[in-house]
Amino acid sequence: MKRIVILISGRGSNMEAIVKACAAEQWPARIAAVVSNRPEAKGLEFAAAHGIATAVVDHKQHTSREAFDAELARAIDAHAPDLVVLAGFMRILTPGFVEHYAGRMINIHPSLLPAFPGLHTHRRAIELGCKLAGATVHYVTAELDHGPIVVQAAVPVLPGDAEATLSQRVLVQEHRIYPMAVRWIVSDALDSRDGVIVHRGGEAQLVVG
Ligand code: GAR
Repeated sequence: MKRIVILISGRGSNMEAIVKACAAEQWPARIAAVVSNRPEAKGLEFAAAHGIATAVVDHKQHTSREAFDAELARAIDAHAPDLVVLAGFMRILTPGFVEHYAGRMINIHPSLLPAFPGLHTHRRAIELGCKLAGATVHYVTAELDHGPIVVQAAVPVLPGDAEATLSQRVLVQEHRIYPMAVRWIVSDALDSRDGVIVHRGGEAQLVVG
């Protein structure tokens, strides 16, 4: 059984999708803990209600990124995770923290990376007249919102779209691709070939919504 620790900062809908899929599809894995940097994160309630251990490491209680990341790593490592899943975890991580979880930490970002790293991805896509938007699950490396891509979902940007409508359309696809990516990893379905992540069985690593 692989052990998964999920990090959230807020709503936690991607975490919810992963928790539900893990149970429904009987993955060879369990969600060992959900950790938040915000005590008020809504997702903590869902996790606790599902019998999952929760912890809060409040970034506001720490004077430096290094001190926060050290405390966060202690909270995570208490659960000896095989995989750390960033699910709407809105903190920039120190290089030491990223290195500690190299090859076993993934993130979901609401854009078709490498386009639009950082914040306000949907607003920026609309402002630039993009016709395609989406989300990316990737391994975490020291560079923000970069790293080997596990799976992407693409959706159209429709005439009249606002940030709210586009983000909702993308979020539906996030809830498809994030559980899929975690399932692939815990069932050892992925290979890295020259730094590119490939599904050994040839499953499509692109979802078109
Ligand atoms: C998701 O859209 C996720 O892609 C995004 O935050 C949202 C969290 O929603 N993540 C980032 O922007 C990370 N750079 P959730 O808490 O309901 O899963």
